[in-house]
Amino acid sequence: MWWEKKGHLEVNDENHLAILGRDACALAKEYGTPLYVYDKQRIIDNFSAIRSAFQKCSDNFRIHYAMKANSNPEVLKILCREGAYIDAVSPYEAKIAMDAGYPREKIMFTGTSVSDSDLKMLVDDGIFINIDSLSQIKRLRKFGGEGLNVSLRWNPGMGAGHHSHTITAGKYIKFGIPESKLSSAVDLIKESGFNLVGLHQHIGSGWLADDVGVFLETVDRTIGAAVKIQDKIGHDLEFIDFGGGPGIPYCAKDKEFPLDVYAKGICSKVASSPLRNAQIAVEPGRYIVGDAGVLLLEINTVEDKNVPVIGVNGGFNTLARPSFYGSYHEMVVCNCVASKDEKGFMVAGNLCESGDVFSVNREILRKLPVPSEGDVLAVLDAGAYGYSMASTYNSRPKPREVLVDGKGVRVVREEAW
Ligand code: LLP
Repeated sequence: MWWEKKGHLEVNDENHLAILGRDACALAKEYGTPLYVYDKQRIIDNFSAIRSAFQKCSDNFRIHYAMKANSNPEVLKILCREGAYIDAVSPYEAKIAMDAGYPREKIMFTGTSVSDSDLKMLVDDGIFINIDSLSQIKRLRKFGGEGLNVSLRWNPGMGAGHHSHTITAGKYIKFGIPESKLSSAVDLIKESGFNLVGLHQHIGSGWLADDVGVFLETVDRTIGAAVKIQDKIGHDLEFIDFGGGPGIPYCAKDKEFPLDVYAKGICSKVASSPLRNAQIAVEPGRYIVGDAGVLLLEINTVEDKNVPVIGVNGGFNTLARPSFYGSYHEMVVCNCVASKDEKGFMVAGNLCESGDVFSVNREILRKLPVPSEGDVLAVLDAGAYGYSMASTYNSRPKPREVLVDGKGVRVVREEAW
């Protein structure tokens, strides 16, 4: 199978799905469904892969884990031990990260439509703020004292992402400060008595090899903007942050993300610019946790309606991505991974909405081995933006989460309202 990864996701001798050597059917039986299962080793391996790619070309970089992808405290602790920094999008995320052991100096807040109460909480907690608007600078004066270190998120004018909802730079985009306002923002920071120490971009989420070229063009633009800012303020910026976005393959035709091209591109562009002393920062989320998580669901209905339907005990309250973005997620019948007896099904969730289907598109059926009621269905690559986007819609609780490692399986969050 295209998605098999030795040690992490495999098909065992019984033709069952195994996650870090654990039979997915047995996990579902023991811990119930819906169930998010995370593979600790895979999280560490993914983080290490990014770190190694940068180590090859820089000795001055840091990796902020974008915790919006998966903020389970145990996941945060694993990455804290690996040396990650944090990208937080709300003051509450910053608090969760601190509770998980991150020192405040390793957390950077990048928010949008940021309220006064958000700003107050952040300043009170001593969290570094990456500013998204001129309004934010003006309002920060009420809470932030003279000499407060801040950075600016700008919009480099072009973006990329797996869906229009996840493109975060370019025209008609709410994020960041546009080029035309950048100089005024820098002036305003100075007038406010704040100290500008960094420039940040995040062009979007879930782009692959084909978009690395666009990304590297924005790297050039951001370096160019940072150089102009340095000239204007008369001192060097401490860091330059290129955001997150590296995608993962969700289906057979998606290519692996070219980490080396990406890291080398960033490092060589910075090294050959006047910013060579600035620390490089990146903020990956999906790449670290995406393929480390699997969602297990029980198949409760197998029936030919107008179309053949597999009904499962979760919906877009459990995993929003297929309904929200039309995202493809590979699905596997856990007790019968490979079979010649396949048929096209609509894989339907249990919410009272016709759009609540996991098979992406109501007209396109998903080829799966014909299951029996009571079988377990695994939705792969659910570790990023899975649980973190889950809701209690239809008054159902959010699912339990377990972490699998070499020693065993641990519940890392109970089913919760
Ligand atoms: N930095 C900033 C400022 C961000 O806004 C994001 C994601 C990241 C970093 C991390 O991006 P990543 O490396 O994970 O692509 N819910 C969507 C994704 C939304 C991403 C929002 N911002 C999805 O399920 O595809």
